[in-house]
Amino acid sequence: MILVFGGNGQLGQELSRAATARATVLRALSHAEADIADAAAVATALALWNPSIVVNAAAYTKVDLAETELEEARHGNEIGPKVLAAACAGTGVPMVHISTDYVFDGTKDGAYLESDPVCPISAYGRSKAAGEDAVRRHLKDHVILRTAWVYSEFGHNFLKTVLRLAATRDELRIVSDQHGSPTSAAELAEAILNVAAAFAHDRTLAGTYHFTAAGDTTWHGFAGRVVVVAAPITGRNPRVIPIDTADYPTAARRPANSRLDCRSFVKRFGFLPRHWTVGVDATTRALAGSKQKVGSHVA
Ligand SMILES: NC(=O)c1ccc[n+]([C@@H]2O[C@H](COP(=O)([O-])OP(=O)(O)OC[C@H]3O[C@@H](n4cnc5c(N)ncnc54)[C@H](OP(=O)(O)O)[C@@H]3O)[C@@H](O)[C@H]2O)c1
Repeated sequence: MILVFGGNGQLGQELSRAATARATVLRALSHAEADIADAAAVATALALWNPSIVVNAAAYTKVDLAETELEEARHGNEIGPKVLAAACAGTGVPMVHISTDYVFDGTKDGAYLESDPVCPISAYGRSKAAGEDAVRRHLKDHVILRTAWVYSEFGHNFLKTVLRLAATRDELRIVSDQHGSPTSAAELAEAILNVAAAFAHDRTLAGTYHFTAAGDTTWHGFAGRVVVVAAPITGRNPRVIPIDTADYPTAARRPANSRLDCRSFVKRFGFLPRHWTVGVDATTRALAGSKQKVGSHVA
């Protein structure tokens, strides 16, 4: 069975949904049920559920707040993965750990390879890079999966923010000089279930990989797509105006280039990501057709 930590996050909930659809046995523990930095709670969970593999979908993900909540970010993104990795090593259980494009500085011309040196430019990115290191140090049988620009019907994310703003505004001003691949948490969950099935039996697959949707765009392109797809359903069609990062100051710096090269993942796990528009269109239609969901989940 697969044991997931961080089960109430957007990825955690999509993992539960995907496992149910495939009839895969998976137990997802919420933050309240198990804090990954709590060695006793983690040991109890591993003993109780006796998993064949662990997926760490838990993380401190408040990118701007992390600049000031350094200890909280370290707790979720460095100490937690370290405790989890050590517990897995102690019980002989492999782990899939999720990481991020924010470990890079975004200055590369082209998509980042797994072998490119990390150089985070935010406190969140530094805490996630430290978490990767901790996992590598404490657990040989790990798969670290970096992803980017994740959205879902669940939780808080950019796609839902765009839908919420489009409902009331005639103009959306969106950053157009950051590049990445909007990645559906539902598709990421499918990819992780494939990894879990393969890695539980073949430990030679251990290592660091990248997985995002195929193709790339900007936040402006992402928002424009959401608005165009939602418009026939909501009757709302605001103008989406491109702006520079410099015109939208945030506490944390973001990489200008978040593109991740996923060829190694495809080769080793045989799972081909779909173009980013496929997932964005499906999630937009699902949310735009359900006003209640958008209203109740958006920050
Ligand atoms: N979202 C993105 O755009 C994005 C991009 C690249 C990579 N990632 C990575 O993808 C993974 C999943 O992200 P997500 O978007 O699903 O995040 P999310 O929706 O914020 O979910 C994270 C979950 O982790 C829980 N959590 C936080 N600290 C914890 C701890 N110490 N112990 C146990 N649970 C804890 C949170 O619970 P509480 O809310 O109760 O704290 C939340 O349920 C993370 O590793 C993230 O870094 C995300």
